[in-house]
Amino acid sequence: MDHNDYLDSLFSFIDQSPTAFHVTATATSALDRAGFSRLRETDAWQRLDNGKYYVVRNDAGLIAFTLNRDSETPRPLRMAGAHTDSPGLRVKPQPLQLHQGSLQLGVEVYGGALLAPWFDRNLSLAGRISWCAENGALHSSLIDCRRPIATIPSLAIHFDREANNARAINKQTDLVPLLALSAETVPPLFTDWLKTELKAHSPQLPVATILDFDLFLYDTQPLERIGLNRELITGSRLDNQLSCHALVQGLIGAIPEHNSLIVLNDHEEVGSVSTAGAQGPFLKAVLERLYPDPEQRRRVLAGSLFISADNAHAVHPNFAAKHDPDHLPRLNQGPVIKTNANQRYATNGLTAALFRRLCASAEVPCQQFVMRNDMACGSTIGPLTAAEIGVATVDVGVPQLAMHSIRETIGHLDGWYLLRALTAFFSAPDAAIRSPECPSLSEQ
Ligand code: CO
Repeated sequence: MDHNDYLDSLFSFIDQSPTAFHVTATATSALDRAGFSRLRETDAWQRLDNGKYYVVRNDAGLIAFTLNRDSETPRPLRMAGAHTDSPGLRVKPQPLQLHQGSLQLGVEVYGGALLAPWFDRNLSLAGRISWCAENGALHSSLIDCRRPIATIPSLAIHFDREANNARAINKQTDLVPLLALSAETVPPLFTDWLKTELKAHSPQLPVATILDFDLFLYDTQPLERIGLNRELITGSRLDNQLSCHALVQGLIGAIPEHNSLIVLNDHEEVGSVSTAGAQGPFLKAVLERLYPDPEQRRRVLAGSLFISADNAHAVHPNFAAKHDPDHLPRLNQGPVIKTNANQRYATNGLTAALFRRLCASAEVPCQQFVMRNDMACGSTIGPLTAAEIGVATVDVGVPQLAMHSIRETIGHLDGWYLLRALTAFFSAPDAAIRSPECPSLSEQ
């Protein structure tokens, strides 16, 4: 895959993935095409042949792996993780509201969204619908309306002369999207409208009743390469779909003789405590089934490396003082190794060294980030995974601007660099991913 192919592949991945459910579906389609087989957690896994597999949890978390059981001695597992979810607006259970003749949609804020950029956008709706067939059977389907169906108009500056100095956003009252000008009629049932939409998308489905839904709004403006020299990419959900895409493509290119695994967790943006979140049992449960013998499992994990990939903060030219002056990651200068003395990132000197060497072998530059001491540091799935399963971990990510905006900015090279570093990881010899052991003081 060259740089242009990479960008085409990234753009189509994100375009097809308006929600975490769709990220998982887009990833599993790519894995299916690459010859991976789907496993179900309800099936028996005892006699898995060497091969390529994946397993999905709650339609929004994914673990995929290449398995080679030929060696008697435990071989390291090359592991990498990212998260499928992005901050945004989720539709409330009883969403339809009528105000001043306008039909509106009640939404909840999901995660740490930067809310101001959500105003005045052309928004569509996507997610998962749970429905009942005429014979009573329960089904679920993904839906993506594609067309813009809503907007959240700003309040005109004439009603708020302080808008540019001190406009606060009330999440309950200010953020209610406008759906239709339906006069003074009582709103129809939202589930009836969903049924019509679902039937329009998939006429073959025997939908009788919509029972429930997990729906999110998203911006319909597609990713775009911009800038005088087209060095920038702007778009939604780059945090962290860019990393999900790189992990999936990296694993597809992995050497089948190695044991490699990727985990795409849900709910990172809301604390990771869930069935498919990094602070839940998903990865541990899969590892216990791949290595049922505890002794063997612990030996494998002790010799393994986990690369946690989640976008990093590039220095913003208008706000450079927000960064530590000696750690200023820039766009298009390669993946960023993130460290934090208080373990908000799981990186240590050894795991950073292993990642640096992988970057060097892939001829990819890399950078470093540490938060200013006078500001709170964010976190990600790396420390949670390290703590859950006890694996050596490095937190890395592509530098970006405007994290958690509805439209984020990256450089056109960094995702490509990340994929090359991951490809080196998935094909490196075992020794290249093992942490070396310090000799005892008497040996030094
Ligand atoms: Co993230």
